[in-house]
Amino acid sequence: MSSERDTDSDWNQLGEVDPFWAVITDERFRAEKMDKTTREAFYESGFGNIDQFHFALKHYFSAPDHFDACLDFGAGVGRLLVPMAKRANTAVGVDIAGSMRAVCQVRLDELGLSQVKLVATPKEAAEFGPFDWVNSFIVLQHIPPARGLALIADLIATVRPGGFLSLHVTTFRDAHLMSQDTAGSVRKLLRQVRASIVSAPQIGQISMFDYDLGEVLALLTRAGCPRFVLEHTDHGGHHGFMVYAQKVAG
Ligand SMILES: C[S@@+](CC[C@H](N)C(=O)[O-])C[C@H]1O[C@@H](n2cnc3c(N)ncnc32)[C@H](O)[C@@H]1O
Repeated sequence: MSSERDTDSDWNQLGEVDPFWAVITDERFRAEKMDKTTREAFYESGFGNIDQFHFALKHYFSAPDHFDACLDFGAGVGRLLVPMAKRANTAVGVDIAGSMRAVCQVRLDELGLSQVKLVATPKEAAEFGPFDWVNSFIVLQHIPPARGLALIADLIATVRPGGFLSLHVTTFRDAHLMSQDTAGSVRKLLRQVRASIVSAPQIGQISMFDYDLGEVLALLTRAGCPRFVLEHTDHGGHHGFMVYAQKVAG
């Protein structure tokens, strides 16, 4: 049996109980506190992120103002998917959690965005591709790297030649955030033994994982994206990079 955490179940549970807070862990976005104004402020924050990523792709790779098809991986409740959809003829949101997709669908219906599709995996999304822009922000950090790397490969495969990627990965963290995922092997083993004796892990935990940046860049290079630009990110001591890339034209 794999000792790897079932992060998919965690996210489905989070989406059922506290979907907005799970996306941005700010107490204002707790389910019991969400009112119309707070919900709009939550969604508004996505426009700022997408403005920034789109600006970077235009600046580094001369990306266009408007796209035919876009994909947001780990779309959650649609915070980034909606502003992406407004810059494209069609858009697809990929999210493994059915509970998150359900909240996202409510938002899409509210806004009349019937051209936006929601699916669970990049492989399912491929049917609606190829895509001109594939984005993922604050998602891969929650997926164990071995699986995340395979998902990145699936995502790159959906990008049309000449298309663009903006992918966020976490790669290191400040000392106070060292956890069982990065601790030394003895501490890790002790924690695993203690966890197996005390109780089963609770579903609904937010896990963080660091990727090997070299592996991510090798994957991009081999998959036809040998030119990329990195921008450092620091989310409360979790450091990483926005990787901007363009797939070579066919
Ligand atoms: C922190 S939220 C970010 C949502 C969105 N990217 C945003 O910035 O608003 C992470 C999202 O990734 C989704 N997710 C986690 N693991 C996933 C996987 N293996 N495949 C697809 N989505 C996943 C979760 O269900 C959740 O909706």
